[in-house]
Amino acid sequence: MKQTILVTGGTGFIGSHTTVELINAGYDVVIVDNLSNSQENVIDGIEEITGVRPAFVKADCCDKEAMDKVMSDYPISGIIHFAASKAVGESVEKPLLYYRNNILSLVNLLELMPKHDVKGIIFSSSCTVYGQPDPENLPVTEEAPIKPAESPYGNTKQINEEIIRDDIASGAPIKAILLRYFNPIGSHPSAIIGELPTGVPMNLIPFVTQTAIGIREQLKVFGNDYDTPDGTCIRDYIYVVDLAKAHVKAMQRVLDTDSPQLEVFNIGTGNGCSTKQIIDAFEKATGVKLNWAYAPRRAGDIEKVWANPEKANKVLGWKADTSLEDTLKSAWNWQLKLRERGIQ
Ligand code: UD1
Repeated sequence: MKQTILVTGGTGFIGSHTTVELINAGYDVVIVDNLSNSQENVIDGIEEITGVRPAFVKADCCDKEAMDKVMSDYPISGIIHFAASKAVGESVEKPLLYYRNNILSLVNLLELMPKHDVKGIIFSSSCTVYGQPDPENLPVTEEAPIKPAESPYGNTKQINEEIIRDDIASGAPIKAILLRYFNPIGSHPSAIIGELPTGVPMNLIPFVTQTAIGIREQLKVFGNDYDTPDGTCIRDYIYVVDLAKAHVKAMQRVLDTDSPQLEVFNIGTGNGCSTKQIIDAFEKATGVKLNWAYAPRRAGDIEKVWANPEKANKVLGWKADTSLEDTLKSAWNWQLKLRERGIQ
C-alpha cells in the first residue's frame, strides 16, 4: 500500500520540488501551506510534471486544530516540515513573528504525531547552525560545533533541532532526521516549477538571473576582501532537485528501516564555490553577460562554508550529482519561462 506523506510548505521552492520527487518515488502526498509566500497554482505545475495531483489543504501549521484535522483526514505515515519564515533580515526586524511561526508550527506537529500514529518527521535545518566554522572544520561535518545564531531565523533552526532532540530523548514514539541544507539553487528541468522570490531577491541566484534578464540593473558582489582565493565568499550551492531527492531517501530510511531514532545529515555537494566563480560559471553556462560590480561586505555574511556530505553519501545512499553548469542553466531557463508567462 502506498504511504502518505504530509509536506508542509509544499507549494514553496524546496517543498514543491520535493513533492515531485516523492510522487515519482511512489508516495501519496498531502500538501499543507498557508500560501503566505507561494502560489496555489504550483499544484498545477506539480500535476503537469508528475501526472498526479497531490492533495492540498490551505492551512497554517500554527493552527493546531487545522493540523489535527489534516492528520485525521489522511493516513499520514511521515511528515516533511518545510513551512517556515525564511528571510534573515526580516527575522531581525520581526523576531517574534519568526519564533511564533517557526517554533509553534513544529511543536504542533510533534504533539500531534503520536496521536495520529505518524512515524517520522524530516526537518529542514540549515548550515546556518555552524555559523563560520573554524578553518580546521572545513569542509564541515555534522560533528562541527554549533555556533551562536546570527539572526532570529538562524536561532529558530537551532531551537527546532533541540526541540526534536528533547522530544525524542523524553521517549516520544517517533523518528526524525534533521537535514542541514547548504545553498539550494536552480529549478526543475521542465522549468514548470522553480524559485519565486517576492520583491527584490536577497539570495544570489535569483538576483543573478533577474539581472541577466534585465529586471535588476546590476548585481552587487558583497565583498572582495575575504580570506578566500578570489576574495569573494564561498558557499556550497546544491541543485534543488538533488536536495529534493535527499528527502525521499531520508523518508525511506525513517519509515522502512530500523535506523536510529534521530539522525542529522549535511546536504551539500562537498564543493566550495565563490561568488565570482558562480558569475563566471553562469556566463559560461548560458552565454549571457552579467552586469556586476564589487560592493561592500553584507553584514552578517559568513566568509566560507561548504559541506562534507560523506555521511549522507554513505548512510542515505544519496549524492548530489548534477553539475553546476546544468544547475545554473536550469535557473536561467526558469527565469526565461517566468518572462514568457509574464510573471517576472
Ligand atoms: C542566506 C542566509 C542563510 C539562509 C539562506 C536561505 C545569511 C547570512 N544567511 O544564506 O541563513 O539559510 O540565505 O536562502 O543571510 N551575494 C552577493 N550579492 C547578492 C546576493 C548574495 O554577493 O546580491 C553573496 C552573499 O554575500 C553570499 C552568497 O552570495 O556570499 C550567497 O548569498 P545568499 O544566496 O544570500 O545565501 P547565504 O547568505 O549563504
